[in-house]
Amino acid sequence: MKTSSRRLLLAGAGASLLPLHSTFAAGLIATPAQTEGPFYPTAFPADMDNDLVQVRGQAAQAMGTVLHLEGRVLDLNGRPVDGALVEIWQCDAQGVYDHPRQPGRDRRDTAFQGYGRMIVTADGRYTFRTLKPVAYPGRTPHIHFKVATSTGGLLTSQFYIAGEPGNERDGIFRAAARDPRQRELVEMKLAPAPGVEAGALATKMDIVVG
Ligand SMILES: [Fe+2]
Repeated sequence: MKTSSRRLLLAGAGASLLPLHSTFAAGLIATPAQTEGPFYPTAFPADMDNDLVQVRGQAAQAMGTVLHLEGRVLDLNGRPVDGALVEIWQCDAQGVYDHPRQPGRDRRDTAFQGYGRMIVTADGRYTFRTLKPVAYPGRTPHIHFKVATSTGGLLTSQFYIAGEPGNERDGIFRAAARDPRQRELVEMKLAPAPGVEAGALATKMDIVVG
């Protein structure tokens, strides 16, 4: 009898320590903030859902390689951030943004949505169907994103392609990926995703907000 109540006590103590232990076990660092750049939309497209490859009402699909980008929005303790709004924006397959400051904007692929947003699901998940980003003059390929939390937090950053030779020549990338843990948070490892969509790539990127 004595032994079993002692066991119960120990079990209880262990359980109450668990959340604290998990905090340290998670040991997360925040996704590094990076510049918004000059091409955040001045006007949002009529269709701004999380499928950027298909514009509502258009038969054509955007040119380029489809990329399924998904992950969770987490806090520093590894807990999903409920109600966070995730936005992404990027240039089309020819390196052209849908933006007034974009030279040659009229050459853009009108079948590419260019911008999309979604509120994370209850477990903090977001998912976008978009394009594998391409380089444009002066920049290595990247996808811009912003996360706004329901408590007023805001993170603006960019994702890159792991192993892209242009990364090391890109000053914005280098500043964001100063150490290996930061690098993990901004480099997308792309893999074929035949089970998801023929010819498409997929990547999982958790976004950690501080
Ligand atoms: Fe950009």
